[in-house]
Amino acid sequence: MLGPVILAASRSDRMRRLISAAPVTKPVVDRFIPGETVDEIVPIIEDLAAKGLEVTMDVVGEDITTPEQAAAARDAYLALIGHLEELGLGTKAEMSVKLSMFGQALEGGHELALANVRPVVEAAAAIGTTVTLDAEDHTTLDSMFAIHEELRKDFPGTGCVIQAYLFRTEADARRLAASGSRVRIVKGAYKEPASVAYQNKHEIDKAYVRILKTLMEGEGYPMIGSHDPRIIAIAQDIARRAGRKLDEYEFQMLYGIRSEEHVRLAAEGHRMRVYTAYGTDWYGYFMRRLAEKPANLRFFARSILTK
Ligand code: FDA
Repeated sequence: MLGPVILAASRSDRMRRLISAAPVTKPVVDRFIPGETVDEIVPIIEDLAAKGLEVTMDVVGEDITTPEQAAAARDAYLALIGHLEELGLGTKAEMSVKLSMFGQALEGGHELALANVRPVVEAAAAIGTTVTLDAEDHTTLDSMFAIHEELRKDFPGTGCVIQAYLFRTEADARRLAASGSRVRIVKGAYKEPASVAYQNKHEIDKAYVRILKTLMEGEGYPMIGSHDPRIIAIAQDIARRAGRKLDEYEFQMLYGIRSEEHVRLAAEGHRMRVYTAYGTDWYGYFMRRLAEKPANLRFFARSILTK
């Protein structure tokens, strides 16, 4: 019930100003976005690596309004990659990028986003790692998939994300599985209309399993983005039946959510990658995490009321 309201608020500038300015917000934000600067995030990556975990890094930010902001986003990723290389963490850390942050929604945005993301993909490849294009709302996906295809011509390891709640995704999964791509499958985190997406959790979970089966039986590299214990158990079963070895797929979870499960899966020999967000423009990312679990909102509300 609350999820859609919070997701609507995640797109409101007024709510953004209100929530971002509240001093009580910060400790709750830290659970999901554990740093604002490269210096703050590096020890977190080192700590995760020491536990046998890999990371995918998200420099938070989306819905930018000028080409200068898009260029700044590109430069933030390039600076991060440079730091990781210096610290020898390059191969442990891949990058996750949102094309909206690279200018996709601006005039000429498709070309602008491609021009901004390409140097990031090149820099990542130069230190032995990859980039995955996150999936945003459904109106952005044709452009995202076209950019993904374009980048794969030179960098075949470039990944993309597909969302089980969208009706279109089963067809996208078949195409991507046949082309041998790296693909992260997630349930989907945006507010989508009933004309394009399942609204019911049970339907979404069933679609997730069908899509996962397509990916596991295909030629590509499936990345299972979920914290759902049932999905994780089913994924292990589907992988086994598809004859996949442990290094032929991976699990991915968000930083701050079911952290003990990250370590457990890694200890079982699975490749586990933790999606780690950092930066100052955390509002949209934070609100989606609140929308996913009502208990997060209760925790947040309690921290406001007890101040
Ligand atoms: P589900 O929502 O059913 O949750 C299962 C259990 O996980 C819950 O019962 C709870 O215990 C725990 N949990 C889940 N979310 C939680 C939260 N916020 N706080 C606390 N506990 C929580 N989406 C998208 O649209 N585009 C994208 O590019 C990505 N990228 C992405 C990367 C990675 C690595 C992950 C794990 C997820 C994404 N997502 C995403 C988000 C995704 O679409 C989805 O909203 C969340 O993963 C929640 O769905 P679950 O599969 O975890 O199941």
